[in-house]
Amino acid sequence: MSELVQLTKIDGIAVVTINNPPVNALSAALSAGIAAAVAQIEKDDAVKAVVFIGAGRTFIAGADIKEFGELTSGKIICRESLKPLLLRIEDLRMPVVMAIHGVAFGGGLELAMAGHYRIALPSAQVGQPEVKLGIIPGAAGTQRLPRLAGVAKAVEMCAEGAPLKAEDALSAGILDRLVEGDLMTAAIAFAKEVAAKPAPKTRERSELGTPEQNAAIFAAARETTRKKQRGLLAPLAAIDAIEAATTLPFEQGCQKEEELFTKCLFSDQSKALIHAFFGEREVAKIPDVPKETPTIGVSSVGIVGAGTMGAGIAMVFANAGIPALLKETDQAALDRGLANIQKNYANSVKRGRFTQQFADERLKLIRPMLDYSEFANVDMVIEAVFESMALKKEVFSQLDRVCKPDAILATNTSSLNIDEIASATSRPQSVIGTHFFSPANVMRLLEIVRGAATSKEVIATCMQLSKKLGKVGVLVGNCMGFVGNRMFGPYRREAQFLAEEGASVEAVDNALYDFGMAMGPLATGDLAGLDVGWRIRKEFRHLQKPGVRQAFIEDRLCELGRFGQKTGAGWYKYDENRTRARASSKRASRSARWTSTSSI
Ligand code: COA
Repeated sequence: MSELVQLTKIDGIAVVTINNPPVNALSAALSAGIAAAVAQIEKDDAVKAVVFIGAGRTFIAGADIKEFGELTSGKIICRESLKPLLLRIEDLRMPVVMAIHGVAFGGGLELAMAGHYRIALPSAQVGQPEVKLGIIPGAAGTQRLPRLAGVAKAVEMCAEGAPLKAEDALSAGILDRLVEGDLMTAAIAFAKEVAAKPAPKTRERSELGTPEQNAAIFAAARETTRKKQRGLLAPLAAIDAIEAATTLPFEQGCQKEEELFTKCLFSDQSKALIHAFFGEREVAKIPDVPKETPTIGVSSVGIVGAGTMGAGIAMVFANAGIPALLKETDQAALDRGLANIQKNYANSVKRGRFTQQFADERLKLIRPMLDYSEFANVDMVIEAVFESMALKKEVFSQLDRVCKPDAILATNTSSLNIDEIASATSRPQSVIGTHFFSPANVMRLLEIVRGAATSKEVIATCMQLSKKLGKVGVLVGNCMGFVGNRMFGPYRREAQFLAEEGASVEAVDNALYDFGMAMGPLATGDLAGLDVGWRIRKEFRHLQKPGVRQAFIEDRLCELGRFGQKTGAGWYKYDENRTRARASSKRASRSARWTSTSSI
């Protein structure tokens, strides 16, 4: 046997324990270990039933993604398919029970579906998230899942990649029973219960629907996928593979899946998404701020400024269940901020993203106010006022006076010097940058900017908090524009140069939209607010090198009061719903909800 797999026997039940920390990824070595256990079970006439269970925090998080990377980069030349092993498990003469806790994702769910029964703890999740890595299931997931859960559910799971909670997986027919308490005990009891029963093979089941029903499901799924996952290969490939399950025998369907899987795996999209998967995890590791660094509890926040960013940040906290005070200097600005928040929640309810009840509860967590009186109680403050050093220093010196000694004082500045802001306080160790990207309640990136004196506890707390807020926290150094805007600045500058040199605003935006960006760069400026960059440029005017070309249109737009969507005009004109005023090209309107071709 292998170190990664243990085979034991309890009352005639063979227990295969998978133990490949941290997430039991199905590496080649783990598959070999499982194959060895299966070989022993095949030879043992005394085994009445089999239980597969994961050691540690989870069942199996999927195939080992590192091995995919090694394959496409040529480090390894071949990776054995899991499929034959899954057939052997499915063909065992005694019932096989898959006992799931944590997650059964990707290859984990494919393995589970090769068992004859699946039980799970209520906290478990199952899913085929491969599309998020630019690939599709490659071990018959697209062939077994529709036979188990029906074509519509399989298409949804494989093309969108979203996980299913145990309860929903039970209703979908993927799980046979939810169990409470100790999973091993429940699994052995369940195995004894089914030991004398038949062992139903998923690949021989037929929940595959009629050709007419399926044609409608595939057509609708392709249309949605082309809209919502524009330009991505894998979601459409997943639908093609499931379609093959409905038209071809199991074996041939598997061959079709393999062809599509290989095409996706060697695509640039998959290589990039796999790189991003590991990149997102790598940024969480900070050499001098180890995992054990103590953190400060953040159970309430105060936000200074109810503009586009402040209002969005308040929603981020409310959505995570953390109460937020939202402060403005005058009632009109506060009312505008709250109205934007209410509109945003109403839209989310309309689009089915939130229930009315959820939106109402979140809204109640945001408390508007015009002074700092209650800021003495909050664990963290995020300042989101205009990009003016003088104003920020004034705010921080006030925060220093009113906030409790260990409160974290964060700034949402997108480019100003954190150390200079911290110098306005008597506690620079508590000052940090938390730079959200617009729209703050949507974008996943959160730049966490470390000042010279920022304490490790404060850094560790913000990194941990980013996860709780559903963001990817990235620690960056303190320099003008940090990392995000240093990358974004030249991109937007060149887009403006194109407009200055005569390209239409829409032509510039459409070129980048067609390239794959979610929005064109000029429309993005309108969304985020052109005044943000304008104020920053004013702050840094003295650093501009003589003779270096500077874009000027956005400065002129701002001088005319055209700050973008929030003032009804920027590069484009907008109506009161922030929708562009007149019908125009479909490409552009899809992402930005804009409908006009007005230019400057
Ligand atoms: N293969 C290889 N490594 C994996 C992995 C996989 N399928 N899934 C997770 N890991 C690694 C991560 O890289 C990370 O490694 P690190 O600690 O060295 O950085 C570690 O496992 C923990 O993962 P992390 O995402 O930080 O933990 P989490 O508790 O937040 O989430 C999962 C756990 C399993 C939900 C999440 O990692 C996940 O969704 N994994 C991908 C699942 C997937 O796509 N499966 C299909 C593969 S084809």
